Amino acid sequence: RNQPNSRLVEMHEYAAELYQHILLNAEQGEEALTYLEKRGFTREMIEKYRIGWALPEWHHLTRMLQRKGYTLDELAESGLAIRKEGEEAAFDRFRGRVMFPLMDENGKVIAFSGRILGTSKEEAKYLNSPESPIFKKSEVLYNIHRAKSAIRKTRRIVLFEGFMDVIAAGTAGVENAVATMGTSLTASHIREMKRFARDVTICFDGDNAGWEAAKKASVLLNDEQFNVEVAVLPGELDPDDYIREHGEETFRTQIIGKPHAFLAFIMMHARRHKNFQYENDLLQYIHEVLKLLSGRSSPIERDLYIKQLAQETGLSEDAILQQYRKTE
Ligand code: CTP
Ligand code: MN
Ligand code: MN
Ligand code: MN
Ligand code: MN
Repeated sequence: RNQPNSRLVEMHEYAAELYQHILLNAEQGEEALTYLEKRGFTREMIEKYRIGWALPEWHHLTRMLQRKGYTLDELAESGLAIRKEGEEAAFDRFRGRVMFPLMDENGKVIAFSGRILGTSKEEAKYLNSPESPIFKKSEVLYNIHRAKSAIRKTRRIVLFEGFMDVIAAGTAGVENAVATMGTSLTASHIREMKRFARDVTICFDGDNAGWEAAKKASVLLNDEQFNVEVAVLPGELDPDDYIREHGEETFRTQIIGKPHAFLAFIMMHARRHKNFQYENDLLQYIHEVLKLLSGRSSPIERDLYIKQLAQETGLSEDAILQQYRKTE
């Protein structure tokens, strides 16, 4: 029944093995191996996450796959090769990149994300496989096949922004970890997540983009009846940076172990870059928080956060409550 798709999966499994073999055993893999080691990857991590290296050549994987009997149509459909319109030839999509396989829920390789070594102005840092019959970017949660048993045990998903963070967190003992593939959280991701748990800790990058993405994801998940907590990183660090700088134990206890409740996070987010000396900032802050409080919160939460608003702004609880009733 799934004959065509199973061939696409076989091609990806083969590619993952080839890429890893080159990284670990070939002389041409040395530069990439050194890059990964500098980033803290051990051989054990490389093997666990099946990381590899795509040679900076145009036809390496394409030729190997053709030799194994895969057709040009199959090569193009897999996304592993690119076929030019109307031509009887194809070339490798991934060239000169560290290859991170993306796996489905059963651990089968269905796509890749390839990272350049270091930084570049010309080339995108990450290149993902295109959509294919086996890869729907808006559904895939990186690491779900490894994380699912830990998620069921802890009844909690820890959601990261990047797969590098998932790998670093896993090494630090946070095994219920997943990430989207560079897209914002979609309804399909949420549907997937719901199959495994209803409690979620969002732990995105500490930069502005990370804060904005965490705000969006937390509101979406809260709307979908998840119990949402947000673990916040100091400065501009992402979880991977943080672990390298402060250590695994500190990450577990001080970051993952001290998350903010959803509404507390929303208030932190609304306070960011605001100066309550300015009336506009103050009013806007109160407005944002009351808007979120209305409809979402229990009477106890309402009381708690209205008290907090009063403390933060120096206004009376009474005035804020009156304003709140108008918002409702
Ligand atoms: N991403 C992408 N293309 C980019 C940048 C990011 O697809 N040019 C996606 C990737 O899926 C990445 C996620 O967005 O995992 C988070 O981006 P970023 O924080 O920039 O990546 P890091 O995980 O921090 O990667 P690194 O530490 O290697 O810089
Ligand atoms: Mn980021
Ligand atoms: Mn990051
Ligand atoms: Mn970075
Ligand atoms: Mn990073």
